[in-house]
Amino acid sequence: MSVLRGIRKIEIALFLLCAALPCSGQQLNLMPWPAHIARQQGSLALNGTPRILLTGGDERVHHALKRFIRQLAVQTGTPFDRSFGKPPQGPLFAVQCAGPGLKVQALGEDESYHLSVSQTGIKLTAPNPLGILHGLQTLLQLVQAGPNGWIIPDVQIDDAPRFPWRGLMIDVSRHFMPLSALERNIDGMAAVKLNVLHLHLSDDEGFRVQSKKCPRLTEFASDGLYYTQAQIRQLIAYARDRGIRIVPEFDVPGHAVSWLVAYPKLSSGPAPATLVRSEHDTLRPPLDPTNPETYKIINKVFGEMEKLFPDAYFHIGGDEVDAKYWNNDPKVQAWMHAHNIANAHALQTYFTLRVQKIVAKHGKHMEGWDEILDSKLPKDSLIQSWRGADSLANSARLGYKTVLSAGYYLDLMHSAAYHYAVDPLGGPSATLTPTEQANIIGGEACQWTEYVTPEILDNRLWPRLGAIAERLWSPASVTDVNSMYRRLTVLNRNLQWLGLQQNISTRTMLGRIAGDDMPLPLLVTLAQAVEPVKDYNRETTQVYDVEQPLNQLVDAIPPESNTAREVNALARRALLDPSARPELRKWFTRWSNNDAQIEPYMSKSFLRVRLIPLSQQLAALGDLGLAALNNIQADRPISPEKKQKELDMLKAIEAPHAEMFIVVTPSVRSLLEAEPVTSSTTAQ
Ligand code: ACM
Repeated sequence: MSVLRGIRKIEIALFLLCAALPCSGQQLNLMPWPAHIARQQGSLALNGTPRILLTGGDERVHHALKRFIRQLAVQTGTPFDRSFGKPPQGPLFAVQCAGPGLKVQALGEDESYHLSVSQTGIKLTAPNPLGILHGLQTLLQLVQAGPNGWIIPDVQIDDAPRFPWRGLMIDVSRHFMPLSALERNIDGMAAVKLNVLHLHLSDDEGFRVQSKKCPRLTEFASDGLYYTQAQIRQLIAYARDRGIRIVPEFDVPGHAVSWLVAYPKLSSGPAPATLVRSEHDTLRPPLDPTNPETYKIINKVFGEMEKLFPDAYFHIGGDEVDAKYWNNDPKVQAWMHAHNIANAHALQTYFTLRVQKIVAKHGKHMEGWDEILDSKLPKDSLIQSWRGADSLANSARLGYKTVLSAGYYLDLMHSAAYHYAVDPLGGPSATLTPTEQANIIGGEACQWTEYVTPEILDNRLWPRLGAIAERLWSPASVTDVNSMYRRLTVLNRNLQWLGLQQNISTRTMLGRIAGDDMPLPLLVTLAQAVEPVKDYNRETTQVYDVEQPLNQLVDAIPPESNTAREVNALARRALLDPSARPELRKWFTRWSNNDAQIEPYMSKSFLRVRLIPLSQQLAALGDLGLAALNNIQADRPISPEKKQKELDMLKAIEAPHAEMFIVVTPSVRSLLEAEPVTSSTTAQ
């Protein structure tokens, strides 16, 4: 008896320890993982609408509690949002907020909260409404189905973010995103405790905010696709209600063709007549920093926009200025000579300092991409590092606040694990002094939209964004990749109840490609085996053009294939554990057979015809896998020449087609590498 009790005690201790870490085996689906969590045994029955007792806070807390009840109802499919003429009957829920928070949400406001759930009820306390907002999201993530109904596990959570700037940038210039797309993604951001939405509002393709002071920008530089000022106010209020700041970016002096279409006289050299539509439109001069008119127009536009956007930070872009236009313009060169300005970087710094004065005149801090970094900038400037983590460390060393985006570019199609491994305080920043490191205030995921429409947006963001949100919120020690993927999957399923479309958009877009003739499962088999090409490789085979439809398989699939991750892991397991081999054989057989079944449909639709080589490669991969599995099962050696031939075939199978490549090849590679080899060249 006493021995059993001892074992039970050890079990409980192990259970509690495990529950306090995001290790596999525990079933709390929190993302981002809290700073401190202690799980107690037991749980609270959610046997009715929580009886909320609120003290303190501001209107954001009232709105958030209403959304919380509505969300609870949607997520559980239970009418917690209906009173049926009675007061709420569920557990007590004490919400205590110490203060009202700032009128304009600011960097560094206290976002901490304490959440306790026990059999007697729920208690959420925070010094600031932002903490209450975050705590409510944690609480929603804790709700689970128990044997007799919905429950919330008993926990004590003390939580606060690791970094105060946890952002997402969306480029709304290349492809305009309607308000509805931004609002649903703001809901998603709030769910993972991101707190900055940076909107890239102007570029060569369009100027996306109505300007009343310079209406030519709206008339000639927007293509009719822009946010009215009323819509911007609506969006800012929507984001503020959810604890999210909106930081506007108007990119100057490069990426500024839209300005030049409206005001050609501001161009360095001849101005383009039209907005950039495609990669072929190569005339993209920057603004002329030597022309006083440039600053007059910037003053008008920035003055107007700085009033419209209340945030303390104003992003002026500053990236990728093509110096050839300044170097080849005799007027600019003569001016530089007369003003003793040695080179293009010095000229850009001259420009940036003048623009900074305009930004500061309206009471704002200037933010810019890392090209603007120069020790002459005022120390309240904020640098967004994108060309590599060195610029993050350099900015911090020079005393500038800085945020990391290098490593968080979602348009480059890397995996969640890839982004999860990027830490703002890792790499070159690890060598900084604590004072210098304190200048690193967080990071921002970036979603450039050359190949992203509103239909695709969520499916580009969310397969990775939860992992980045966790990196920026949770302690640096939270690094278990398996746990991350498990929780990310649950997060993405739950985000659908907020109206996010990442999962549904793959299904509907695959449906469009399959049409009414092709059996969808055949297309799904192919779709699950491929991923979009990585980095900037899509540009090498598909010239970017804003008018090109984005309705191909590459647009429909998520950036990362969960199936590939699972099958590749299954193959590694199967090498050691023969009981995993039948399952692996099923996958190889399915790939091997799929092409013959899909083939009759492929050439009937222009949406499919480019997939023919990929489908054939997948079949060849299945055949290679089956042969290798048979050899391993039978312990039948093959010659070194045969093995080399198989490896060469595998390499050919990895070649991209239709802007995608097969990503289940590692499952076969593990087997090929493990196949027994003869010492002579005769055995086959
Ligand atoms: C950038 O990606 N050009 C900031």
